[in-house]
Amino acid sequence: MTKTLITRRAALKGTALLTGAAAIPSGFAIAQAKPLKIGLMLPYSGTFAQLGENITFAVEMYLAEKGGKLAGREVQIIKLDDESKPENGQQNAERMVKRDAVDVLIGTVHSGVQMAIHKVVAESGTLCIIPNAGANDVTRKLCAKNVFRSSFTNWQPAYGMGLALGKRGIKKAAWITWDYAAGAESGEGFKQGLEAGGGQLVQTLTLKFPETNFQPLLAQIQGLGVEAVGSFFSGGGAVQFVKEYAAAGIKVPLCGSGFLTEGTLAGQGAAAEGIETALHYGDGLESPKNTAFRAAFKAKANREADVFAVQGYDAAQFLNAGLEAVKGDMANEAALYKAIETAKIDSPRGPISMSASHNVVQDIYLRKVTGGQNKVVSTVVAQLADPGTGCKL
Ligand code: PHB
Repeated sequence: MTKTLITRRAALKGTALLTGAAAIPSGFAIAQAKPLKIGLMLPYSGTFAQLGENITFAVEMYLAEKGGKLAGREVQIIKLDDESKPENGQQNAERMVKRDAVDVLIGTVHSGVQMAIHKVVAESGTLCIIPNAGANDVTRKLCAKNVFRSSFTNWQPAYGMGLALGKRGIKKAAWITWDYAAGAESGEGFKQGLEAGGGQLVQTLTLKFPETNFQPLLAQIQGLGVEAVGSFFSGGGAVQFVKEYAAAGIKVPLCGSGFLTEGTLAGQGAAAEGIETALHYGDGLESPKNTAFRAAFKAKANREADVFAVQGYDAAQFLNAGLEAVKGDMANEAALYKAIETAKIDSPRGPISMSASHNVVQDIYLRKVTGGQNKVVSTVVAQLADPGTGCKL
């Protein structure tokens, strides 16, 4: 360590002797010349693999649009498959932060893994941008100045779904999900939305993540006396759940947080037709940004863009807003964070910004699967901010 320092000083001195004092690079210039290391800690295997891939494609797409540089700095990407395994989360995050010494960690998808990442980055101070995981607490009571989220809290879309049902006069609904943070927090959002609209959550059914033995739960639904079933499932698990729900011939309509039918419609086919969900993205959102985004994503990934791609792209957009403000100098932390906090981003989903607790503020749309697409029906809540309860920054 010392040896490197002495060697470098000697080299710098040599340069000065040869070309004059003005040629001595400042610490800032040395930092600038180094590539910006972005760590992508995401699932590339397991039930959420496609989510991780789409986030990655979209980050890479944004970088390519910028000519491979952010704020004038070359970018190096380091990828790690977190497998959506919370038990390995801390060790994986430490690998990225300590061994790989990333400047920014973009991750992850699974709320349980996010809690582990959060422990590590809250301590190290590494800038972290969350491109999916909705774990409420990381932008509520555990909020941190270096942690931002470009996706959602688990509360946001589920609240929108509950509210839409309550407002149309649904009095009794049930919730079905995986038994982990995202399922439970979405269920709480659904309940609050339903109650705000005059309805009630009367039953919650769960199974372990990422299990898919849905039959014992499906068998109970008709006996519950509910008018709607709300749910949180995503990825491969959601494909299977929606198919089995349809095959069971259950008369009660299924709805949910929009992940239920997001990036999954090709696999779900006719079983998904008519399902209503609430989310911060949907098909048929017509803006020049979204049209260009979808075309570019399709060209890169050879499949349709979805909300996960949008969230990845916007993680990169928020990062760029911060880096531009400090001309790539990440050591200028206060200005870097301020710029992300105040950024007004033109997202494929519509206009977005950061709340005081560093979670994205966005429109929540009601969608209905029609002809194999999540067609936007209406805006349930415009510019919905998570309450950010307990956050002090
Ligand atoms: C989460 O674990 O927070 C999560 C996972 C997949 C989703 C949404 C949320 O689609």
